[in-house]
Amino acid sequence: MKVLLAASECAPFVKTGGLADVVGALPKALAEADIECRVILPLYPTLKGLARKATSDMDLGTLFGSPARLLAIEAEGLSLLLLQAPDLFERKGGIYLDESGNDWTDNAQRFAALSNAAAQVSLTGYENWRPDLLHAHDWQAGLAPWYLRQAGSRMPSVITIHNIAFQGLFPAALTRLLKLDPAGYSREGYEYYGQISFLKAGIIASERITTVSPTYARELMAAEFGMGFEGLLQSRKSDLVGILNGIDLKAWDPQSDTAIAENYSARSLKRKAANRQALEKRFGLSGNPDAPLFCVISRLTEQKGLDLLLDAIPALVGRGARLALLGSGEKKLEESFRKAAADHAGSVGTIIGYDENLSHLMQAGSDAILVPSRFEPCGLTQLYGLRYGTLPVVSRTGGLADTIIDANDAAIRAGSATGFQFAPVTAENLVHAIDRACDLFGDRKIWTLLMRNAMRHQVGWDASATAYQSLFESLLDGAEKDAE
Ligand code: ADP
Ligand code: GLC
Repeated sequence: MKVLLAASECAPFVKTGGLADVVGALPKALAEADIECRVILPLYPTLKGLARKATSDMDLGTLFGSPARLLAIEAEGLSLLLLQAPDLFERKGGIYLDESGNDWTDNAQRFAALSNAAAQVSLTGYENWRPDLLHAHDWQAGLAPWYLRQAGSRMPSVITIHNIAFQGLFPAALTRLLKLDPAGYSREGYEYYGQISFLKAGIIASERITTVSPTYARELMAAEFGMGFEGLLQSRKSDLVGILNGIDLKAWDPQSDTAIAENYSARSLKRKAANRQALEKRFGLSGNPDAPLFCVISRLTEQKGLDLLLDAIPALVGRGARLALLGSGEKKLEESFRKAAADHAGSVGTIIGYDENLSHLMQAGSDAILVPSRFEPCGLTQLYGLRYGTLPVVSRTGGLADTIIDANDAAIRAGSATGFQFAPVTAENLVHAIDRACDLFGDRKIWTLLMRNAMRHQVGWDASATAYQSLFESLLDGAEKDAE
């Protein structure tokens, strides 16, 4: 089977969040099941070096005002099709935002181009490689299934929702410019409260909708989490499935990670100490063997609930615990965490920015990782935490609820506890969870047991790749029957 994945990010080449990790890891996991994937993504300026490795290219003519070509590249175990459209993607700034932090004004054209190129490859192939199925990720690729249907193709499409908060909303006036059939501007089509929604287009045009955890799949159908899409998703309930993300076990392995101070395993947990020391040094934190070192590695946005952590800092510091935070995002949160570090020098350390290597050292050197999200489709940092024996303290929502087993007495006795959960998401409940973690940290025997449980927890792709495989196979079987 051949699958074309369309996405705006793919690790390790370009990443702003978990989407990239998933798009970079899923093809490798599917390869083990003999599914041949190619990933189509834009050629951003940071990928120029990679583009030089192209083994072939294909002209796509002009896409939304820019000359466009596809370049085929094999790198890091992935087969890529890079969309070279210089007038849309080759510019200074971020992949979604300009240098002042605003959305690029032509994001509609940029990601319509990505989607259009993906639909073209689905329709006519790249050289003689032709996918059997299109797998679109998030709103940036949402128009791909739509363009495919619009061209009359019946090739099956799947769309994965990584985060319903991002719906790809653009003015209705762009309909013709985006080459969308105006008849599709309706409740049953891509229209959404007077605008065009790329995500809605993708959902409507795809046979199946997946999201990244079973709990988030259920949450999406409720008003509290559906963000306006709950009705649409309820009506597609039988087509909606939650498949938990895995992690790349090679890229995230404390036994071989080259970005950490000392490698360790569940049998040599004492070696974690060298990582803790390196981390304390990096964040200017004082040592304290009696209380845990908590970390946060996150986008700083409303979703992640880190404003609640600001309120919890006095209690955390009061317990002698320490906090190392790496993140970037909303200016107000960046400022507040900088201030917290100044107010609690030695106990709180803040690094504003994006640093992949440092994020590995933090997973290795911390005792616990805090993820107090208001909603979390899957979440990956808690999975990296499990793998590194860094116990997750998480809110009970979405994928966090599905991946962490709370250290209540029964779970500790059963040998299954891997972290701490709290709900509902309030500062008070977060403080309570931090307190519970501090209490258990004092009992080295239990804490070590929890670390070992965490490190044993299956966080790879095996089960989820099989779930995607079955889903894809069922669609292809259905497509064959239709054709008969
Ligand atoms: P989301 O995709 O919503 O941001 P996830 O937990 O799924 O949340 O994935 C976030 C990914 O981005 C993880 O791989 C995490 O390690 C990484 N990450 C987030 N912020 C930073 C940062 N400031 N520096 C390095 N890595 C980061
Ligand atoms: C989104 C979600 C996150 C998820 C990631 C990968 O960014 O916010 O929870 O882990 O996508 O699916």
